[in-house]
Amino acid sequence: MKYLNISILVIGAILVGTGCFFFPFLNPGQQRLMAAQTAFKEKIFQPFFQNRRCQICHNFDAQRAGIFATHPDRTSNCTGCHSSTLLGFGPPDWKLPPDADKWSDSSDPNAVREHIMEMGPSLYNHLVGEGANKAPLVQWAFFNGPDTGPGAGQIHAGKVPTGGTGQEHPSGQIDNVDLLDWNKFKTAVQEWMCLEAKISGSPDLGLPANSCP
Ligand code: HEC
Ligand code: HEC
Repeated sequence: MKYLNISILVIGAILVGTGCFFFPFLNPGQQRLMAAQTAFKEKIFQPFFQNRRCQICHNFDAQRAGIFATHPDRTSNCTGCHSSTLLGFGPPDWKLPPDADKWSDSSDPNAVREHIMEMGPSLYNHLVGEGANKAPLVQWAFFNGPDTGPGAGQIHAGKVPTGGTGQEHPSGQIDNVDLLDWNKFKTAVQEWMCLEAKISGSPDLGLPANSCP
């Protein structure tokens, strides 16, 4: 009996884990919600939001000591080192997100999805805007994203200050391989928002017209 119980638990866990168990019982509306949540989690949250390039600002207090031991804390003057000359852009100034404590790499992806969707129509441009619509603090983390279009100057992707004792990138440049892939991110945001758009009553997230299949 004990073994039977354990095997039922194991089979149940496998079915739930693979999503096979509950899926047939969901109505079409629930299935669309689940598809959007899964796309956000797997294509956006895990590969991008959870990445160190984004985390290091969005979860700064927890990550700061990992930049290098004596990296200044949140009360320091960021632009004194991360200047607009160095970054190629500014305004906006290099700064911590105002809601830095709202999400981190260990947040529930569904909660992060709901939180960022509160941005409504400005969300699309905030994440993947280009030209006059670019968001430099986001684009800085991508090697093939930064554009020279109008807005806040040309973004020097992955540029960091020099002179920090024991810093990770003494050259002042994070390698391309350690930066994120803009084209991949843009495609993922597009795919995810198209799934959101299929949910009835879904908010306008600023996705350009006719961009869904
Ligand atoms: C005294 C100069 C100095 C000040 C002031 C400073 N930083 Fe830095 N910061 C550095 C240096 C040097 C690096 C590069 C570390 C490396 O080699 O990767 C860095 C790296 C970073 C990174 C990591 C980039 C990455 O992805 O690896 C973040 C994020 C960051 N700083 C945020 C801030 C914020 C936010 C402030 C203001 C609260 C600030 N810094 C103030 C010198 C400074
Ligand atoms: C230099 C620090 C910095 C880096 C690096 C950074 N952000 Fe932000 N982020 C900000 C600031 C500051 C804001 C507030 C809006 C603004 O000023 O652009 C913000 C706002 C946001 C928001 C909306 C508000 C919120 O917290 O939900 C999202 C979503 C976001 N960033 C995602 C990202 C992603 C994804 C990356 C990595 C590709 C990233 N950020 C990298 C500083 C940063």
